[in-house]
Amino acid sequence: MQISPSVREQMNRAYLEFFESAERKRRWNVFDDIPWEKLDRSKLSAMKGVCVETYCAEELYLPDYTMGGVELTREVFGLAWFQACWSYEESKHGLVFREYLNRSGLRSSAELAALEDSVAAKRWELPFTTYRQMSCYGALQEAATYLAYKAQKDRAALEGDLVLEAIFKYVSRDEAAHAGFYRTVVEIELDEDRAGTLLDLARVIAHFKMPGDGLIPNYQERLRISGAGISTRSFVQHGLLPMLRTLGTSRAELSAATAMLPAAEPVTVVADSAAHAI
Ligand SMILES: [Fe+2]
Ligand SMILES: [Fe+2]
Repeated sequence: MQISPSVREQMNRAYLEFFESAERKRRWNVFDDIPWEKLDRSKLSAMKGVCVETYCAEELYLPDYTMGGVELTREVFGLAWFQACWSYEESKHGLVFREYLNRSGLRSSAELAALEDSVAAKRWELPFTTYRQMSCYGALQEAATYLAYKAQKDRAALEGDLVLEAIFKYVSRDEAAHAGFYRTVVEIELDEDRAGTLLDLARVIAHFKMPGDGLIPNYQERLRISGAGISTRSFVQHGLLPMLRTLGTSRAELSAATAMLPAAEPVTVVADSAAHAI
């Protein structure tokens, strides 16, 4: 990876700040911090089963995410160590969802084994080829995941479902922190090469889709029937636009970068909505 000493230093510092905050304020324990004894069978539903199973499946692609991320970052301490820490945190997400499905009885051991087999049968590939592009992708994807989990936390709180409320509180907080790290990396890259980074950001927005989309069977249908998804409008309003503001980009700048993309490149519904909103 071609990287200047100044950028390397800034990346390393960003990781130290991320890790210190994680260690001091954000650590949680799957076994002790979830009130499993408050699992209330009257609050279970088939929809919750599909919702948590879909999130679980998406988190279970962790080996592929980790391999792809480490391969891109291994030469830069701060980035490679972030990947290691990120993998540990993400591993708890798949685990806590798996535990919920198991302890609640919403899925049997045989059903969980079948889920793991179906995940292992397909491999997630990096959707973009450079670390800068993957940082843009990470900032967007983690923000979308945060919004989805936060919505589930709020829903569980309204229902008085203490177990799901606790689970989604911890996982959504982790996702928000991950989004924050990737945003910092993109900010550093913008300072270093504004035009190139904006072009990457425009390309990532144009092609954005969630990791499970295309991998998990009936992904969109699962999100729709279980209420696990967030609308494109909500994602643009509460995820994409705040991120662009934080990064200090303008509508004109991003539009100019988007215009530089080859005309043949397909544009996703997210990019289309963003183009109308910004
Ligand atoms: Fe996660
Ligand atoms: Fe995350």
